Amino acid sequence: MSRNAIDVLLIGGGMITHDQILPSLYHLQRQGVLGPIKICALGSGPLRALAEAPALAEAFPGQSFEAFPALDVPEAETFPELYKELVAAMPPRNLVVVAVPDHVHDPVIRFALEHDQHVLTVKPLVLRYDQAAVIERMAHDRGLFVGVEYHKRFDRRSLEARRQYRAGRLGEFRCGEAKMIEPYYYRHSNFQNWFTKENTDPFTYVGCHYVDLVYFITGVRPAEVAVRGVEGAFPNGNVGYLWASGMVRWENGAVLNVLAGLGYPDEAPGTNDQALCLYGEGENVGTILKHNDQFRGCSYGYTDHAAGAAFRYINPDYFRLVPWQGDGLRPVGYGHDSVEGLVESALAVNAAGEDLAARQSVLDEIDRRGLVATPANSSINELVIEATRLSILADGAPAVIEYKPKPRVRLR
Ligand SMILES: NC(=O)c1ccc[n+]([C@@H]2O[C@H](COP(=O)([O-])OP(=O)(O)OC[C@H]3O[C@@H](n4cnc5c(N)ncnc54)[C@H](O)[C@@H]3O)[C@@H](O)[C@H]2O)c1
Repeated sequence: MSRNAIDVLLIGGGMITHDQILPSLYHLQRQGVLGPIKICALGSGPLRALAEAPALAEAFPGQSFEAFPALDVPEAETFPELYKELVAAMPPRNLVVVAVPDHVHDPVIRFALEHDQHVLTVKPLVLRYDQAAVIERMAHDRGLFVGVEYHKRFDRRSLEARRQYRAGRLGEFRCGEAKMIEPYYYRHSNFQNWFTKENTDPFTYVGCHYVDLVYFITGVRPAEVAVRGVEGAFPNGNVGYLWASGMVRWENGAVLNVLAGLGYPDEAPGTNDQALCLYGEGENVGTILKHNDQFRGCSYGYTDHAAGAAFRYINPDYFRLVPWQGDGLRPVGYGHDSVEGLVESALAVNAAGEDLAARQSVLDEIDRRGLVATPANSSINELVIEATRLSILADGAPAVIEYKPKPRVRLR
């Protein structure tokens, strides 16, 4: 991999930026992989929160980002188009990191590609298959990398499961269940402004992690989705689907039930609830793959409530800032491995130089390998999201995913 640093414009300064993306980028920066980091948000509020975040200051002493708008701009002023000026001013083939709400991904990603930038986006890439197909084509035509941050793929247990499944040792997946229930307090956050019925739902938001993971492990594609939503009001009165239960049928006839929601008790140890269980069949033998992704064998009772409750399960596998030989703290876990893997993919494309065909051949190899999610190797996710939205808005009617003659989704 090339170690020629690239500059970063991170668009979006919310929760995921604070908890995972920025710490990972800071660490890559101090390793010399990344150059200067700019962050653009809708207004100065989230940027100030990041600039003053005690956890980031402790872990990355002396590191900072350039804020757009500037930190002293009044919080109430918003700049929804400011990212365009910043992207347009970037020299070609640097990196735009997209961490804005789901429904804003598409225009931001296309704008970055039009201005010759590699893209690292938090999941989901976009909300519709046709958008993913356009992004795939734009990126390939220009020899640019687009990667989607599905960090569960980098969990060591997922990588081990993929290897053993593909070696045939876990048989053929036939029936399974997954759940991801996010904390209740999400309802009080900025979620209440965008997590409304017309934009998204819990299956689209977090259920998709496990659909992607089953595909990542087994290579089997989803063929039908039926999702039932449970409505409720956010504290500000906006109405959203706060719970969802979905059934995914796969091309090999297997079925997966998925529970998703925003309601895991804030005081419970979780800090969310998540698990995957796949039953399969080998030759005259039953198989099982069971991951408890919530409780990883580590729980702490604290003297304080800084973690939201006095007793918590800890997931050091996902993301932790831990002591290391250098100053501050370093990020460890699959959250960091995932960001690093995506950044290294963009660098590998740049290492192929000015020759478009050479860059495209690196991109083809990344797609084929299938570890980092790209539009070419992960757009089953957009098809599932489309099917979910059709189904949930039709009170749980099944939506079919067809792959031929070209991918499309329709109510059955
Ligand atoms: N497990 C995961 O992979 C995971 C977890 C959490 C969030 N996410 C994804 O991350 C994204 C953001 O989620 P979040 O929880 O951080 O949201 P958030 O609401 O906390 O933050 C969104 C940020 O986007 C900024 N923003 C919105 N429109 C903008 C614009 N036009 N220009 C510049 N900035 C703009 C806002 O200022 C805010 O800082 C979503 O797509 C979500 O699905 C992924």
